[in-house]
Amino acid sequence: MNDQMITPFGDFNLKRIPDSDKNLYAWNSADRYLLNHLFELYQSGEVDLDNAKILIINDAFGALSVPLAQFSCDSYSDSVISHQAIIQNIKQCCPEDLGKITLLKSTEALKCHYDVVLFKEVKNYAFFQDEMLKVAQHVNPDALILGAIMAKNLQKNTMELLNKSIGQTQASLAWKKARLLFVNSEKTGQDEVKVKSSPVQPETNISTYELDESNEIIYNLANVFSKNKLDIGTRFFLQHLPNEKNYKNIIDLGCGNGVLSLKIAQNYPKSNITCIDESYMAVASAKMTLDANLQAEDVNVTYKAANALSDYPQNSTDLILCNPPFHQQYVVGDAIAWQMFKQSKKTLVKGGELWIVGNRHLAYHLKLQKIFGNHEFIAANNKFVVLKAVKN
Ligand SMILES: C[S@@+](CC[C@H](N)C(=O)[O-])C[C@H]1O[C@@H](n2cnc3c(N)ncnc32)[C@H](O)[C@@H]1O
Repeated sequence: MNDQMITPFGDFNLKRIPDSDKNLYAWNSADRYLLNHLFELYQSGEVDLDNAKILIINDAFGALSVPLAQFSCDSYSDSVISHQAIIQNIKQCCPEDLGKITLLKSTEALKCHYDVVLFKEVKNYAFFQDEMLKVAQHVNPDALILGAIMAKNLQKNTMELLNKSIGQTQASLAWKKARLLFVNSEKTGQDEVKVKSSPVQPETNISTYELDESNEIIYNLANVFSKNKLDIGTRFFLQHLPNEKNYKNIIDLGCGNGVLSLKIAQNYPKSNITCIDESYMAVASAKMTLDANLQAEDVNVTYKAANALSDYPQNSTDLILCNPPFHQQYVVGDAIAWQMFKQSKKTLVKGGELWIVGNRHLAYHLKLQKIFGNHEFIAANNKFVVLKAVKN
């Protein structure tokens, strides 16, 4: 497959992370549509990119950030993998621009006002809303605000949200199944809408729920998995977590809001727990959940935004808990589960254990058997299984 993305700003050889499926590109036609249009505005002098402060939002692998890294850009994302891909691709394609781009985490406040805002769609509406409410407060008058979206993903509520939170929005005609969204920043009635749709500041847009039996409060920022209620797979896992054998070093892999860590910390109060997630919002939420429900002296918890266990020391860990994701952005598949299981084997000490929960139909036991050479069914119901594999 040809990895070359052709744009008027230049041609760029971009790779995804992970790069295991050769049928998936690091960009789509929405990225190219946006860059084509932006270049036209740049060439005609309508937009002065050389002197503009540019904000790029939700760039998955650098398709926008790499071509525009030559200008003054901030690239905002909730995904540490996206940030890693952006850096990797800039190093590969235009290393001279590396120092010019700033990576902004979704958990950080925006620090300046922007002249150009370029955004891609995200699947999670609550997260998109959180982002757009932040953006609304950080655009200069007359800013160019331009979105790019695959036509099949354009929802009525996306348009409504943009109309309400930033300004009058129009969609372009489709080009290669993509559309552009033109958002007028000179909107009227902004204050009225902010009061109606944003009772809290976007930076503090946190939802909580209570666990049934214990009344402990679970904290969730906007982009966190199952943020309004306990996921049913997680609920089943919580009922079957290890509580007999002793474990010192424990990882909650793909920790989300930290609910598994909370319960394992209560089972093993003297342990060291590491909460890992590729979402900055998940890691921040896990910290809020554990801080709120545990006494500081009880357990030693570390929080890491990371691509699974890619940078984690090998042979270091006694127990790994995992409720694996089954999609990366819009792409459904088992690549991340494979990665997590394979890396778990490297990370565990001899005799260390990986415990997972999964939908029965995903047949994770076959993967564990292949990687670890063993697996054990801990519990099953009509939907889920809890499985254990031991590193021998
Ligand atoms: C099914 S959710 C489980 C969340 C939480 N453990 C629970 O049970 O409620 C999977 C989590 O994995 C995270 N994730 C996805 N890909 C990841 C990766 N490459 N590295 C680390 N975490 C990842 C997602 O952000 C998500 O929080």
